[in-house]
Amino acid sequence: MTATSPLPGPVVDRTDPIPDIDLADPDPTRMSTHDEVLADLRREHAVFWHGPKSHRGFWAVIRYAETVRVYRDATSFSATHGMTLDTLRSDPDPACGMMVEVTDPPEHRRLRRSIGAFFADGVVAELETAIDAYVRRLLVGVRDRGGEVDFVEAVAAPVPTHAAGLLLGLPPDDLDWITGRTARVFLSGQRSGTREDLREEAERANGELLGYFARLLRTGPRGPDAGGLVQRLAAGTTNRDGLTVGEVMLNALNLAIGGTTTTRALLSNLTHALARRPDLFQALRIEPSAVPAAVEEAVRWANPVRHLTRIATRDVELAGRDIRAGDAVVVWPRSANRDETVFRQPDVFDIRRHPNPHIGFAAGPHSCPGTALGRVQVRATLRHLLELFTGIEPAGAPELMQSNFLHGYTRLPVRLIDGP
Ligand code: HEM
Repeated sequence: MTATSPLPGPVVDRTDPIPDIDLADPDPTRMSTHDEVLADLRREHAVFWHGPKSHRGFWAVIRYAETVRVYRDATSFSATHGMTLDTLRSDPDPACGMMVEVTDPPEHRRLRRSIGAFFADGVVAELETAIDAYVRRLLVGVRDRGGEVDFVEAVAAPVPTHAAGLLLGLPPDDLDWITGRTARVFLSGQRSGTREDLREEAERANGELLGYFARLLRTGPRGPDAGGLVQRLAAGTTNRDGLTVGEVMLNALNLAIGGTTTTRALLSNLTHALARRPDLFQALRIEPSAVPAAVEEAVRWANPVRHLTRIATRDVELAGRDIRAGDAVVVWPRSANRDETVFRQPDVFDIRRHPNPHIGFAAGPHSCPGTALGRVQVRATLRHLLELFTGIEPAGAPELMQSNFLHGYTRLPVRLIDGP
C-alpha cells in the first residue's frame, strides 16, 4: 500500500480488438464512460489485454467468474507487488511479509489471524452501539443546521474515521487530521491537482500516517486494557504468533486506510444515488426492514473499488487467454458486479435484490476483514437518514474523486428534508 512511482513492467506485445480507452486514466469526465464501455466489452471478453497507456500494460479481468478465480488463487496471482496500478511495482512491495494487503499465503495467514480476532462478531457488535450513536448525533446536527450540507464533509468522511478510531484506539483529537490524510492516499484529492501533484501528495500522506502510527506506538497507552487494536497488538496479547512493532505499524496503517477510504466512498455513492432516486428513499421509508438488503445492493451497484492488481507468478490460462509469469492481472470488480450472467438486470438498483452474491468485499484470502464493520456504518447511516428525514435532494454539482482506484465523491451537496 506504500505509494511509489510505478516501475516499467515487462515489455509485452499483445494485440486485442478493444476500444481505445485507458481504464487507469483518473480523469473523472472520461472515467464516467468506463462503466458503459466495460458493459460492452463484457459481452465479448471475460479477460482482455489492455495495452500500455498511462500505466504499464495489463490483463483486464472484467467478468464475475474470472474475477473470483483471480481473488481465490493467490498462488498463481500474487498480491505482493502492490494493490493499485499506481503502486504496482516490478519487485515485491517492501512491506511484503509484514502488511496483510501485500503478503501472500502462507505468511498472510499469520497476519490475518493477528488482526482477525478484532473483527469477530462480538467485537463489531460492541462498536455498533457507539457508531450508531455517533451517526445519529451527526445527522441530528445536520438537521438542526437546516439540512443543506456537503454530505462528504458532514457525514461520509467523519463516520469511517470515527469507526476506525474506535477499532484502533486512536485519540479522538487526531481523527480530523487522519480524515484529511486518508483522503489523499489513493491520488484521490480534489480535481484541481495535476497527476504529479497528486502522486506527491499521496506519498506525503502515506509517510505522515506511518509516522503517526510509529509515534502512537512509542508514546501511547499500552496493554490489554488500553483500548484499541493498536495498543493491544503492541502489547503482544492478541495471539501466540505476536507481531513485531513494524508489523503493528504497517497493519494499523492498512486498516486505517482500507477502512476509511472505501467506506467513505460507498457512503457518498449511496447518498448520491438516493438523492437522484427519490422513489428508492420513499420505498425504504415504507419498508425499513429492507435496509440490510439495500446496503448489500449499494456495495454491488455503487461499488467503490474500481480495480485491484495482482502479478501472475506462473504461466496460467484464464478464460482462454495465455497469461505469462510476471504479467500484471487487474480485476475490475465494478464490472464483475454487473455481470449479466450472475445478476438479473444488473444496472437496476434493486433494494430487495435476492440473492445478491456480489464481490464488493472481494473473495478468497484477501477478502475484506472489515466487511461487518463497513456494513454497520452504512446501515446506521441509512437507518438514521430514513428516521430523521423525509427526503434527500441534490443541492449542487457533485465532484467525483480523481482516482482510478476508488469511485466516490469528494464533494456531494445535498438537502436533507425534514418535513412533508
Ligand atoms: C464498505 C466498505 C468496504 C469495502 C467496499 C471494502 C473492500 C475491500 C476489498 C475489495 C478488499 C480486497 C483487497 C484485495 O483483494 O486486494 C479489502 C481488503 C481489506 N479491507 Fe476492506 N472494504 C471496506 C471496509 C473496510 C473496513 C471498515 C476495514 C477495517 C477497518 C477494512 C480493512 C481492509 C483490510 C485490512 C484489507 C486487506 C485484507 C487482506 O489483504 O487480507 N475494509 N476491502
